[in-house]
Amino acid sequence: MPEAPLLAFDVGGSFVKAGLVDAVAGCVAGEVLRRPTPQGAAPIEVIDLLAAMAGELPSHGPVGLAMPAVTKRGVTWTAANIDKRWIGTDAVSLLEARIERPVVLLNDADAAGVAEMALGAGRGRDGTVMVLTLGTGIGTALFIDGRLLPNTELGHLEVHGIEAEHRASAKVRVDRRLGWVDWAAEVNAVLASYHALLWPDLFIIGGGVTENWQYFAPLLTSRAEIVRARFGNDAGIIGAAMAASAGNP
Ligand code: BGC
Repeated sequence: MPEAPLLAFDVGGSFVKAGLVDAVAGCVAGEVLRRPTPQGAAPIEVIDLLAAMAGELPSHGPVGLAMPAVTKRGVTWTAANIDKRWIGTDAVSLLEARIERPVVLLNDADAAGVAEMALGAGRGRDGTVMVLTLGTGIGTALFIDGRLLPNTELGHLEVHGIEAEHRASAKVRVDRRLGWVDWAAEVNAVLASYHALLWPDLFIIGGGVTENWQYFAPLLTSRAEIVRARFGNDAGIIGAAMAASAGNP
């Protein structure tokens, strides 16, 4: 019997997404709800929003939750693009208490990476693979022979004195009104730093900005292979549902 779709959330600095996901096929079943992240994104307001969205997407079973933070054993430990009150918040207990279902929490880029490695651009790829999500910040997920090293947070690595995500996130491109050439040069500087540190075999580039892949992909350079993520904006919820289905991040 096919597995029922699982509810999954992807909390971002700008938007919160929720969807029902067929974790085996790696696709969203029906509509993805997308709501602006509450101003300040304090835990209680976000949990309220997640509970309301859960009500709009009737489902059963475990729930996946991707957050833009270091996550360990259900707790969020950093908050670069969300309210600082998330630091030390037991997100799993809060959401489980509200929706009365088991919740699996993981970092949003790790979730996207899990989806890409299982059924997307990284499927069957061994060696060192780095998945990047270019959005409000830069998320990174690192895989060695298909196994995730969680919470790498290399969006905060300093690249020539400036944090990678303050150089080359999709938000920076819009905020600074950078053209594709100038923005791609920033992405290339970030890729070069990551390469010098980790010598990945493959970079998988994701995030909503990859809808414009044709404008910037030809400008990207690295000693490693560079490919486009398969799942685009839905990677976070798909990977979170896969983690929920497996029962662990
Ligand atoms: C956060 C990461 C997150 C990334 C992408 C960064 O600012 O520290 O946890 O994965 O943004 O959302």
